[in-house]
Amino acid sequence: MIEQTVQILAHERVADQYFRLVLRAPEIAPLVQPGQFAHVRVLPLKEALLRRPFSIFQANGDTFSILYKRVGKGTEALAQMEPGEPLSVIAPLGNGFAVPPRGSETPLLVAGGYGMAAMYLLAKRSPQKGVVFVGGRRAVDILCVEDFRALGWEVRITTEDGSLGEKGLVTQPLQAELQRAAAGSRLYACGPTPMLRAVSRLAEQFSVPAELSMDEHMCCGVGVCLACVIRVKSGESWEYQRSCTEGPVFDARQIVWEGQS
Ligand SMILES: Cc1cc2nc3c(=O)[nH]c(=O)nc-3n(C[C@H](O)[C@H](O)[C@H](O)COP(=O)(O)OP(=O)(O)OC[C@H]3O[C@@H](n4cnc5c(N)ncnc54)[C@H](O)[C@@H]3O)c2cc1C
Ligand code: FES
Repeated sequence: MIEQTVQILAHERVADQYFRLVLRAPEIAPLVQPGQFAHVRVLPLKEALLRRPFSIFQANGDTFSILYKRVGKGTEALAQMEPGEPLSVIAPLGNGFAVPPRGSETPLLVAGGYGMAAMYLLAKRSPQKGVVFVGGRRAVDILCVEDFRALGWEVRITTEDGSLGEKGLVTQPLQAELQRAAAGSRLYACGPTPMLRAVSRLAEQFSVPAELSMDEHMCCGVGVCLACVIRVKSGESWEYQRSCTEGPVFDARQIVWEGQS
């Protein structure tokens, strides 16, 4: 983990409210593992000292990029920034996904909205190709499809309004796939909490392993403030673990969801 002020190399709007930001960070980029994140302080946002966490989308040579959605104050200020401007980052953070080795189970990647950003490096570095299930509210929320296809992955799209791909939730085609061939599959998911919980239920129903990247609000990002804790099984009971350090990726079987005891 390195804390650095780095320079914006490129910044473009990808679609609707989504932006891609490329940073020059030669000391950070080579360290990045799939599913890890960067904690970003938007320097022009004077009143907001808090950093914002973003999955590392791509890492090449001495650069890495993030793919983000403009949703509030921090991302609004970020969207105004231009190439050449400095950004303070702490990265790479978190544990990341376990990359499936060649000849292992077929990886089924499940992504909701900006969850796609956490999946690209996993797909790129996995010698074992599989299927990416991408879901979003509308067609504009479906990102990176061609990037995944270019890596040799099959992509199945769902939108809640039916404007692209199959109409419905991303877990519907996933369930169909598990009904067809659950044995020998392994799930990896990143997206909103209700989606992760639904993936976890399917993993349990079909007895397949699943790694989930949890979407918890964060403050320090480095294990100090405990703002990001989730409940994780421990023997007969449970304990709190920090999404920013022990996670954000957790084994679905270990998570104690809201309302469970
Ligand atoms: C490990 C991790 C990886 C992430 N990766 C990405 C990514 O690759 N791309 C991306 O666009 N976003 C990602 N996020 C979410 C991103 O951190 C938030 O969208 C961002 O912090 C919002 O900042 P803001 O100041 O613009 O919004 P705020 O003004 O703080 O909030 C605006 C709205 O966004 C919601 N929000 C804030 N934080 C989160 C969050 N963690 N999850 C869901 N909703 C949130 C708030 O509840 C509110 O409704 C990630 C979050 C985590 C924890
Ligand atoms: S965000 Fe502070 S401990 Fe995780």
